[in-house]
Amino acid sequence: MILALETSCDDTCAAVLTGAGEVLASVVSSQGVHDRFGGVVPEIASRHHLELVNAVVDDALRQAGCGLDDVTLVAVTQGPGLVGALLIGIATAKGLAAARRLPLAPVDHLQGHVAANFLAPEPVEPPFLCLIASGGHTLLVRVTDHRGYEVLGGTLDDAAGEAFDKGARLLGLGYPGGPALSALARAGDPAAFAFPTAARVAGLDFSFAGLKTALLYAVRDLGEEETARRAADLAASYEHAIVEALMARVERALAAEPGARLAIGGGVAANRRLRARAEALGVQVKVPPPELCTDNAAMIGSAARWVDPVRHPDYLALDAYATGRRHRAP
Ligand code: KG4
Ligand code: ZN
Repeated sequence: MILALETSCDDTCAAVLTGAGEVLASVVSSQGVHDRFGGVVPEIASRHHLELVNAVVDDALRQAGCGLDDVTLVAVTQGPGLVGALLIGIATAKGLAAARRLPLAPVDHLQGHVAANFLAPEPVEPPFLCLIASGGHTLLVRVTDHRGYEVLGGTLDDAAGEAFDKGARLLGLGYPGGPALSALARAGDPAAFAFPTAARVAGLDFSFAGLKTALLYAVRDLGEEETARRAADLAASYEHAIVEALMARVERALAAEPGARLAIGGGVAANRRLRARAEALGVQVKVPPPELCTDNAAMIGSAARWVDPVRHPDYLALDAYATGRRHRAP
């Protein structure tokens, strides 16, 4: 049994899964205290992780119907993310593992998003192309084995989730903006406004800065009253532009690799329009359930199955990393 922890941002997550990738419990406690600040406040996130983490681990074990005695491996997100937030998960994982002399598997958060696709009941086997779109990262990668990936394209400025969050803020919606903007977009016309998709950026890289500016200008030009009246159209057109920008690169990558399969991951992969668009591409596509796209610990436990575990007491010196560490397939 694997006990996994994820605390890289503002969700305190614990999961219990089997070595075969069956998720027995996946608990996500969203802090919900960052809304009024319009984004995650790192220090507040760390404090809340500290308050929540033991209860979340207890919940996960109870839901899985097992105890610490059944756990043979502890997995934890090492980075990238907010260092203070990561350290709460790492310290907790070290404590739990060391108390029972268990091995510990440090996991890269982005590899976790890829590894959500390796979970039962329908794991996808490499090789495949994978779009990872979250609040902090937007990557198009080639997954050739279970341990890592090769980066084909990345964002030149904002991440896709960040574009959702900033757009939502311009429209006066709460944080996180993606789900709120997407809900508003349901009632709108995606063709009402022609927002840019960075079509001029060649290759497989993404850019969302121009889109955000275009929405800013549209809101300014419309004025407060008209913006409120047309909020659903603005949201639908903006969401459409983000999804098309992502899918244009995915289509380019698929065109260059005939027969390639596609998987998606990261919080933005929970988006309704993106999921529908991906499923209509005409290639074999793996779309994990929304709760495995947004941050969770089951994906971290999944990735841990292919990480070399660190033995006790070697992991006691393990540190978090905020950025970097590109996982390349060997
Ligand atoms: O992967 P994730 O949960 O956390 C990070 O690793 O960043 O991604 C969070 C991002 C946020 O920007 C959030 O607005 C976005 O994913 N997101 C969505 C949806 N659900 C979450 N964006 C669009 N539509 C959604 N349904
Ligand atoms: Zn994430």
